[in-house]
This record gives sequence, C-alpha cells and structure tokens, in this order.
Amino acid sequence: MTKFLIMLTSLAIMFSAAPFATAQEGQAPVPVAVDAASGLPEWDKIYAVFSHPRCADCHVADDRPRWSGAHYGGTRVHAFNVQRGADGSGLGNPGLRCTTCHFASNSSALHGPPGADNWHLAPAEMVWFGKSSAEICAQIKDRSRNGDRSLEDVALHVRDDKLVAWGWAPGADREPAPGSAEATYQAIENWMAAGAPCPVTQ
Ligand code: HEC
Ligand code: HEC
Repeated sequence: MTKFLIMLTSLAIMFSAAPFATAQEGQAPVPVAVDAASGLPEWDKIYAVFSHPRCADCHVADDRPRWSGAHYGGTRVHAFNVQRGADGSGLGNPGLRCTTCHFASNSSALHGPPGADNWHLAPAEMVWFGKSSAEICAQIKDRSRNGDRSLEDVALHVRDDKLVAWGWAPGADREPAPGSAEATYQAIENWMAAGAPCPVTQ
C-alpha cells in the first residue's frame, strides 16, 4: 500500500512537471545581449556590401532598376524603359522581360547584359538603393519587409543565393561588391552573436 502511494505521488509530480517543461520548450530563445562595440563594426561590413551598386541596383523602391557605379559612369535609371512589371513580379512587363536580355551568365562584351539564373528585381519593400545604414539595418531585421526571414535565413540567403553570388562576379569590367559571399555570411553570423545592433543615427 505504501509502495502504491509513493508511485501515485511520483506520478502526480511527473504530470504536474510536464506542462512546465512544455512551456519552457515553447518559449522563444533567450535574446542575445546587445554588444554594440563588437556588433557595429560587423554591421559596417554588411552595409558596405548591401549598399554597393552590385546589390543596391536591384533593391530599389520604385519600378526602375538602376545603373550606378564607376562602370556606368554615374547613376541613372536602367535604359530601354525597363520596368518592374505591372504584376509586381519584378520580371518586367510582358514583351520586355528581364530575360529578354539577361541570361543565366554574364555577357562577355563590355556593357553587354550581365546574367544569373532567375534575374529579376527584388520586391520594393526590400529597398536599399539610396537608403542610410540605419534604414537598411531596420529593414533587414523586419520580417514584414524581408520575405519573412529570420536573421539566420538572411545569412544563408547571402551565402547560397545565385543572384547574390553574381554581386561578386559581375563580369565585364563592373566593380564587384566588397569581400565575398562567405565573408559577408560570417559578418552576419558575428553581428547576430553580438545581438544584431543597428546604428542609431539615420
Ligand atoms: C538581379 C537582381 C538582384 C541582385 C543583383 C541582388 N539581389 Fe538580393 N534580391 C533579389 C530578389 C529578387 C530578392 C527576393 C528573393 C526572395 O525573397 O526570395 C532578393 C532578396 C535579397 C535578400 C533577402 C531579403 C532581405 O531584404 O533581407 C538579401 C539578404 C539579398 N537579396 C542580398 C543581396 C546581396 C548581398 C546582393 C549583392 C551581393 C544582392 N542581393 C544582389 C534580387 C537581387
Ligand atoms: C533590352 C535589354 C534589357 C532588358 C529587357 C533588361 N535589361 Fe538590365 N541591363 C541590360 C544591359 C545591356 C545592362 C548592362 C549595361 C552596361 O553594362 O552598361 C543591364 C544592366 C542591369 C543592371 C545593372 C547591374 C549592375 O551592374 O549593377 C540591373 C540591376 C539590371 N540590368 C536589371 C534588370 C531587370 C531587373 C530587368 C527586368 C525588370 C532588366 N534589367 C531588363 C539590358 C536589359
């Protein structure tokens, strides 16, 4: 009888402990303490890449890709009246799709169309062109504007995506984005480990 009671008591303890354990598992990960001194230099490396013409020329708020940087001799909207596309897809309007001129690899001709698989404009809410470091930082962290990505997803996109990779191998005399995909991925990982601080000024 005593033995039975002990069993019952331990069962009761097990069951009362169970919901607690479930609640613990269901909780969001404990936020990393923000270390601005080590995180902001990492952000500066990320910003140098994201704001570079090879990235920002495709990340625009309006409907026109940009031609900017030394290779283009300044900044202007893409020639030939190229548009995002009335359907918002970023693939261009029917009749003048991006893939009319942009193929899966770079043209070897100077000022020929660069290329990578699935060439199209980034959605307007992912705007970097003409935006400050603080603005880009806020966008990257905002799941309602970054394609519903965690920061780890953003890091993996930078490491593995083909359009992103093009930024470091843009062909035909275009100046590439600084560093490499792997180095930028590492900078994002380091920035996250420091609590992903953003610069305070605009
Ligand atoms: C040819 C156009 C093009 C170029 C060039 C380009 N991107 Fe993008 N980018 C896109 C498109 C399209 C998406 C949306 C993809 C999606 O959500 O699946 C995107 C989305 C992203 C995202 C995820 C969304 C966000 O805002 O967090 C990141 C990060 C990104 N690009 C990084 C880069 C970097 C870094 C470069 C330069 C090295 C670059 N991109 C160059 C078209 C481009
Ligand atoms: C009629 C042909 C044509 C069409 C259509 C076209 N492009 Fe281009 N695009 C070019 C050429 C040519 C260049 C390179 C010009 C140069 O090097 O001086 C270029 C360059 C670019 C660049 C600059 C990349 C960099 O070096 O930073 C971007 C971004 C771009 N195109 C995006 C697009 C997008 C997005 C679409 C579809 C919405 C599109 N283009 C449609 C011909 C075209």
